[in-house]
Amino acid sequence: MKQREQWTSKIGFILAAAGSAIGLGAIWKFPYMAGMNGGSVFVLLFIFCTLAIGLPILLAEFVIGRRGQSDAVTSLSKLAPKSKWHWIGWMGLGSSFILLSFYSVVGGWILSYLGRALLFKLDLTNYSNLFNTIIANPVEVLIAQAVFMMLTIWIVQSGIKGGIERASSWMMPLLFIFFIVLAIRSLTLEGAMEGVRFLFVPDWSYLNGKTLLMALGQAFFSLSVGVTAMMTYASYLSKEERLGQSAFNVSILNIVISLLAGIVIFPAVFALGQSPAEGPGLIFVILPAIFNEIPFGAFFMIIFFVLMLFATLTSSISMLEIVVSTGIRSKYNRRKQAAWLFGILIFIVGIPSALSFGLLADIQLPGGTFFDFADMLTSRFGLPIGALLISIFAGHVLTSAQTKDELRMHPFLHSAWKFIVRFIAPAAIVIIFIAAFF
Ligand code: PHE
Repeated sequence: MKQREQWTSKIGFILAAAGSAIGLGAIWKFPYMAGMNGGSVFVLLFIFCTLAIGLPILLAEFVIGRRGQSDAVTSLSKLAPKSKWHWIGWMGLGSSFILLSFYSVVGGWILSYLGRALLFKLDLTNYSNLFNTIIANPVEVLIAQAVFMMLTIWIVQSGIKGGIERASSWMMPLLFIFFIVLAIRSLTLEGAMEGVRFLFVPDWSYLNGKTLLMALGQAFFSLSVGVTAMMTYASYLSKEERLGQSAFNVSILNIVISLLAGIVIFPAVFALGQSPAEGPGLIFVILPAIFNEIPFGAFFMIIFFVLMLFATLTSSISMLEIVVSTGIRSKYNRRKQAAWLFGILIFIVGIPSALSFGLLADIQLPGGTFFDFADMLTSRFGLPIGALLISIFAGHVLTSAQTKDELRMHPFLHSAWKFIVRFIAPAAIVIIFIAAFF
């Protein structure tokens, strides 16, 4: 049996954790969720949920993962033998499976845009119809989704993850620079200030339980919290790493990228007279419109979409990683087959989500289309419930001696964290949950 790997360097873990967190959650989902939930109030609640609830639970996942040094199920069984807590690991597997089934659909859209751009079949002046023509074509969306899944599987099973992480250490900063340039272009469009107001001047009429649950789900989704992804990554970590610092950095970076994505999208939405509540297609309509306003826009858009694809892959591999590592537990020699087997199953389960914008658009499930249903199952149930259980586990099952030893932080910070994961975070999740249904 092969030895378990460890991250070879300190930076390896940070890059992987940041890579898992920063992806479509910040770039694609945050803008359209903000657009559908009244803008500024959602933005404020998202920041609050990320720092007050998401960050402490992210830290809890780090602590459990590193203490357990194994896949989520094994780690939890080791830390709480003869109990049912390891079910959190199985739940994480289920949530990641469903998450990836629709995440890969959106990854496919990115590939479609890229493919069309490279074949000179992308007419930026016609941006508002572009998205609709792509998603209405079932063959194209399915092929794109399949290719995206294959890329994800291939990376997870081929051991080139290290290379991907090193590449992300310069690709992510480049993506950041692109975002700044796009934000400037968007902000200088005529009528852009309306978008800034939408994002930052609160309209309190949107303050309600549902918006709060949406913001909480977004915070978890975006931090990759509640599905044991971060727990799994932290299990490959040696004792030297300062967990608190890493969790803090990942959370702040995630907020910054999300806000930046909002500042790119909304000024353009209002300047171009588009609807902020467009839904999942929002950035796919607006980004080409902004590139259309930039010299050599078609060329720069190709580079931008390559960077975005990269950010998306560093998240999708973390989802498949949980499914594979939990699915095969300690049988490391089965990794290759398992990655293909689970990857193909996830693709199949994702087919109805891929067709939700065309062929199956009229099929209504709880929450909306198939795609909306899969999103609802995870963002509104799987992730918050997973996060709740992880918080309770870290707060009540792990002893203070154990968490102090893992965290090695200032005693005051440790007590504050402990208090939050013990009482505040679980109570907040339960209250938000109840409030959302009234
Ligand atoms: N955080 C990722 C993103 O924002 C999505 C993700 C969720 C990845 C859960 C892994 C686990 O794109």
